[in-house]
Amino acid sequence: EMQEREIIKKANKYAANFFRYVLMNTETGKSGRKYLADRKIDKQTMADFFIGYAPDNWTGLSDFLKKKGFTEELLVKAGLSNRRKYREGVYDRFRGRVIFPIYNQRGEVIGFGGRLLEESEKQPKYLNSPETPVFNKRLSLYGLNLAFKTIRKENHALVMEGYTDVITAHQFGVNTAVASLGTSLTEEQAKLIRNNASKAYIAFDADAAGETATLRGLEILQSKGLDVLICQLPESYDPDEYLKNYGLENFQKKILDTALPLTEYQIRQAAKNKNLSTIEGKKQYVTEIIPIISKIDNAVEREEYLNQVSEQLGISQEALNSELMKYFRKNY
Ligand code: UTP
Ligand code: MN
Ligand code: MN
Ligand code: MN
Ligand code: MN
Repeated sequence: EMQEREIIKKANKYAANFFRYVLMNTETGKSGRKYLADRKIDKQTMADFFIGYAPDNWTGLSDFLKKKGFTEELLVKAGLSNRRKYREGVYDRFRGRVIFPIYNQRGEVIGFGGRLLEESEKQPKYLNSPETPVFNKRLSLYGLNLAFKTIRKENHALVMEGYTDVITAHQFGVNTAVASLGTSLTEEQAKLIRNNASKAYIAFDADAAGETATLRGLEILQSKGLDVLICQLPESYDPDEYLKNYGLENFQKKILDTALPLTEYQIRQAAKNKNLSTIEGKKQYVTEIIPIISKIDNAVEREEYLNQVSEQLGISQEALNSELMKYFRKNY
């Protein structure tokens, strides 16, 4: 007998084909096609990512999959259908949304993300598959199935937040892009990257949420042995918007080539919103950056950072060194 996980993956594959067919070949799919055209996602990219459309009705997919022999119980387990509350039967989870299938590295469909065509206050912009026997958000990186070969070849991954960031990146030929799908990076995702490369560029949205996610994800990547480089987008941009507004050459030269190594990024972050001409400001700043500098293994590199900070604050290197030693004695 087929394992349940295998059956769920099979149902997912049928579902992806159903969404894809609706998008490309039906009148119902027209609004989805228009949405994607407005966002300048081209036909080839739509095919590469197997983008689809979930019709805005209650049982289109559920009926189709039941006819293929899947039980209602299985469809609910797969996160494709929901059980009705007040009577028998199930209804479709994804309705009236552009669908982005989520694949594992081996190219199997493990889940879906669905985007509303218009922002709404009643519903979330993106609806994702729930956790299922085959979909664990912590273990997934959107786009890895398409990106992993290039990630290996170039020895780096480019980690973004969203579906459309990755899709646009690949359309522009930036084929190392993957997404953590909104959450801050997990240890499992870091391991997945480390299995394929030794460097990770982070290009999260330049907004408050993105910054929080960045800061939390970084340490995890570093702790798995990755060299981490932080891309800095102009305020309020995400990679999708940046590429569409400024193009590939600018993305390469102004964003990737100028990405900051983790330590430098963290030290710059610490300087933000502090008055470094006051004693209090200097003290706070040093207190924040000493733990960061203490994590640098290489003595030359450590000394170089201490040098820079010493000049920046007009404080002797001896003073900084003594704070660093104090920190080492307390914490190691
Ligand atoms: P963003 O809000 O930055 O969306 O969330 P986006 O990717 O730029 O999408 P567009 O350009 O508006 O279409 C980043 C990611 O967070 C997850 C999704 O994975 C999204 O791509 N997210 C966001 C959700 O899961 N649900 C939401 O309601 C919003
Ligand atoms: Mn390409
Ligand atoms: Mn955002
Ligand atoms: Mn976006
Ligand atoms: Mn975004």
